Amino acid sequence: MQFNTRAIHAGQKADPSTGAIMTPIYQTSTYVQKSPGVLVDQYDYSRTNNPTRSALEANLAALEGGAWGICFSSGVAAIAAVIHLLKAGDHVLLCDDVYGGTFRLFDKVFKPLGITYSIVDMTNLQALEEAFNVHTKLVWLETPTNPMLKILDIEKIAKIARSHQALLAVDNTFATPYLQNPLTLGAHIACHSTTKYLGGHSDLVGGALVVNDQELASRLHFIQNSVGAIPGPMDCFLVLRSTKTLHVRMERHCQNAQSIAEFLSQHKLVEKVYYPGLPTHPQHALASVQMKSFGGMISIVLKGGLTAAKRFLENVHLFSLAESLGGVESLIEHPALMTHASIPAQQRAGLGIVDGLVRLSVGIEDVRDLIDDLEKALAAH
Ligand SMILES: Cc1ncc(COP(=O)(O)O)c(C=O)c1O
Repeated sequence: MQFNTRAIHAGQKADPSTGAIMTPIYQTSTYVQKSPGVLVDQYDYSRTNNPTRSALEANLAALEGGAWGICFSSGVAAIAAVIHLLKAGDHVLLCDDVYGGTFRLFDKVFKPLGITYSIVDMTNLQALEEAFNVHTKLVWLETPTNPMLKILDIEKIAKIARSHQALLAVDNTFATPYLQNPLTLGAHIACHSTTKYLGGHSDLVGGALVVNDQELASRLHFIQNSVGAIPGPMDCFLVLRSTKTLHVRMERHCQNAQSIAEFLSQHKLVEKVYYPGLPTHPQHALASVQMKSFGGMISIVLKGGLTAAKRFLENVHLFSLAESLGGVESLIEHPALMTHASIPAQQRAGLGIVDGLVRLSVGIEDVRDLIDDLEKALAAH
């Protein structure tokens, strides 16, 4: 079945008791049993499992081309579940441009428990190869990266990770399963903040993992149930409602972002545009092969540093100044002061997260209105 059909139907069937076409929100903590240990269906307690969550997990697995989906209460809860696969003494390789909250989790929560990490620029495969040691058990990457929008070669990195018997986990939040499928490129785990494009309407917080390996799935299900960071049925319903339109939304996010990136790259007050769909992007060729299209995220550097960036951000009206991304409405933010403030200043500077850097999450409004808004904000004094 094609992606667009899977998006609408996978994991769902009409409710057997009423015929409701939408999967009900099973707002229940527990389930009546026929006899001790004899269940009506497969459900006994909603931390362990819930029918609305099961439908979402099956839907996300189908979209990623995986066998098992495992949902969490947030993207970082999904990431934490992967790290819970490790033990003290294990070592992780982390791509150098990860979401600030991912870095904080590795650095402030798990490092004190004895799980160490090294940061690597994974566009440099030689550097990646050299960063492994005998304790390396996990490679963690995002592509496109956040906020510099570097593209990492999942297939090549998967081969390297496997040759060292390490797991490869890919945070696929920016690309979504519509644009790229890490599991089919050799990764062991695809990770999502469903808060972003999968939810798509800025009205929930959630996370998910998708895997193909049965043993890995059962370890992650065990962690999901034992640690307990599960999403509620209402949030599962909202994500399930939203994945039905993922393909349509992503097409428009990509078209709008391409037009805006081209507009910004011609603007005299813009020093640099980072967008994988521009031929000038250093990994444009890789993005063209690895991704179906180039996504809805753009980062730019304004001439005039922090003062220019603040003025610009204070003068947009249609773009909302807010953290997060991936909703139908356009958002804009300042990584150094907002999403990536938890990354030490020196490390930020090394990555290119300078004071003039602004990140745009391009929504699905009419692109002419979006460009008009940006043009007026750039002209503001
Ligand atoms: C790429 C990426 N991964 C993970 C997360 C964390 O997700 P959540 O905020 O749902 O915990 C974010 C949040 O911004 C993100 O951008």
